[in-house]
Amino acid sequence: MSSSTETKSKLTAGWESPSNIALVKYWGKHGRQLPNNASVSFTLSQAATRTFVSLSPKLTEERIEVEFAFEGKPNTSFASKIVKFFSGIADDFFPFLKDYRIVIESSNSFPHSSGIASSASSMSALALCLCDLENQIHGKTELHEGFYKKASLISRLGSGSAARSVFGHAAVWGNHDVVIGSSDEYAVGVDTLLHPVFKTMQNDILIISADEKSVSSTAGHALMDGNPYAAVRYAQANERLGKLMDALQSGDLATFGKITEDEALTLHALMMCSDPSYILMEEGSLTVIKKIKHFREKTGIPVYFTLDAGPNVHVLYPEEYGQEVSQFIISELKPHCHQGRIIRDSVGSGPIKIS
Ligand code: DP6
Repeated sequence: MSSSTETKSKLTAGWESPSNIALVKYWGKHGRQLPNNASVSFTLSQAATRTFVSLSPKLTEERIEVEFAFEGKPNTSFASKIVKFFSGIADDFFPFLKDYRIVIESSNSFPHSSGIASSASSMSALALCLCDLENQIHGKTELHEGFYKKASLISRLGSGSAARSVFGHAAVWGNHDVVIGSSDEYAVGVDTLLHPVFKTMQNDILIISADEKSVSSTAGHALMDGNPYAAVRYAQANERLGKLMDALQSGDLATFGKITEDEALTLHALMMCSDPSYILMEEGSLTVIKKIKHFREKTGIPVYFTLDAGPNVHVLYPEEYGQEVSQFIISELKPHCHQGRIIRDSVGSGPIKIS
């Protein structure tokens, strides 16, 4: 083995990156994965993807050579998606992807088909590994601001919402007047703007159905192009984000909850009035939403819901109300969950490098 081949065979990067839950939703995009409005999310702590990427000498003449295993099993369909993704980013961002055989191993901390979207955690974990390998190739060891900015940009090219997973606690993706440094190209971390109560936020995911999504996010975004309310929606999202940032900073739970719930229902309303239309909630989703509202009105406890583009309901509340809310969830909401399944999560501090 030549010395350069030996060096090549030693490069490995490992990252664990979390999922995130949007408060103001990204729904509608243009160009190369650019958002039609700014979005903001909480970064989660438990739902995460662990990915290892190693570079070794190439075995074939393929332009991009990828081997991919998910949870220990080779997965050729994912591998070809990754080849396509890498082909699109190699020339502009990581020319080294053409020089090596790339072996990727990935696993999720949450069960497969639990109804949790994994593109945010998986694409951000992969992007972080690529930026880490690039650093190693250039002999760099420190993780500067520029490292996370590039990781967020690459994550975005893989899946828009993944751009936000790179930062702990909360992140904004999309250019917005009130968020200094915000950009359509990458997300920015906004944890320094958060009132401490939001760092204690719990996020219990009620699994109403574990079925595959009836419409992919990509197809859902595309439906916004023909949606008659699209322009009004983008303006509304940007206005809500401005108000929500104020509430996140001041600790105004009532405004936070109102905007978060309105956003979830707006996302679903947009799908209902797309052509073709989609109803993504199940009966159980509506029942638990009504129960959450009723419980909040009755007790005054600040517990709110949000939804992704699917039937599962995320219950958000500060940790200090954990006992009362847990009792309520177990007695009133759990019976509406698929096999009584609930995934308990909370706001978390962001990706971790695995040495
Ligand atoms: C409803 O990021 O999954 O979760 O960019 O096509 O990969 P692609 O879409 P994706 O869309 C997420 C949509 C959402 C809202 C959000 O996370 O902001």
